[in-house]
Amino acid sequence: MLIKKSPQTNIKSSEITPRHVFENRRKFMAGAGMAGLGAIAGGTLGAMSGLMMPGEASAATGLAPLSAMANDKYTLATIGEKMATDKVVASTYNNFYEFGTSKTDPAENATAFEPLPWTVTVDGAVENPGTYDFDDLINPHQLEDRVYRFRCVEAWSMVVPWVGIPLGDVIRRLGPTSKAKYVAFETLFDAERMSGQNRRPIPWPYVEGLRMDEAMHDLTLLTVGMYGETLPNQNGAPIRLIVPWKYGFKSIKSIVKISFVEEQPPCTWNIANAREYGFYSNVNPEVSHPRWSQAKERIVGTGLFADRRETEMMNGYANDVSSLYDGMDLSKYY
Ligand code: MTE
Repeated sequence: MLIKKSPQTNIKSSEITPRHVFENRRKFMAGAGMAGLGAIAGGTLGAMSGLMMPGEASAATGLAPLSAMANDKYTLATIGEKMATDKVVASTYNNFYEFGTSKTDPAENATAFEPLPWTVTVDGAVENPGTYDFDDLINPHQLEDRVYRFRCVEAWSMVVPWVGIPLGDVIRRLGPTSKAKYVAFETLFDAERMSGQNRRPIPWPYVEGLRMDEAMHDLTLLTVGMYGETLPNQNGAPIRLIVPWKYGFKSIKSIVKISFVEEQPPCTWNIANAREYGFYSNVNPEVSHPRWSQAKERIVGTGLFADRRETEMMNGYANDVSSLYDGMDLSKYY
């Protein structure tokens, strides 16, 4: 994809990341030498293995810097924001039940999780099924920096600079057949590696799904990083979905399986509680959750508990995606 550079709006994740984090990363990159710079020029997750001096990145944060191009359609400016959520906040206030059910559990319990090596199995109505190594799935594509609003069904929100590739580009390469009407996703189920799976607050494995046109939409991001670095374990390392116009639970983490299917696939929160959580789950301030209003959202990380903003239809992305739902009653298909 050709991405136009514009000095006004082309904000790199390095400009969003809190200064101390970026300074540390710069020091690290300077020490990484020529091999590392070659990997940066490559502009893919080759950077992940290529940049890391043995042990060095993991000794500091466990995260590796990624080289991505800013997509000027999706910047702080295009969503009318001045600042992204602080990285520390976005990586310590999490929902990832595989590592526990409180907001701080995932960051505490996922430290020992080793996301690599990783494979993703692709099956169903597709021309190129198989089990793909993480690098083989991602490396053919150019990584992009994209700043998105992120809105949880629990009525809180963040602004996060993600790093990823449009899911549609990967899907085109995999070659779904005409029978593929939906895409289903599955998270790793391994209770030895994900301690929260020793209990059953929700059924395992976590599963999610999108209609094919939703999966192909340019906004839908197969995400491998945030704030210019690889994903922290608690944010869904090494690979997750980000679907910014839907409630956060659609953005499934640590994906091990992608299936192309004919029928609408099951989704974890809908299985757990069909009265409260639907398949589409588009952010909609006019449709209350059965137990709370969705009209406003709490901005996480500002330090002000009372800091709220009006929730926008489809989380501010209605111009991009509302045509996908023409003729549908969105209060019925919640
Ligand atoms: N994916 C898996 N596998 N397990 C989960 O518990 N939680 C979802 C979603 N993806 C979840 C998941 C919910 S409810 C939200 S709001 C987001 O992840 C949170 O993403 P974050 O922790 O990166 O902010």
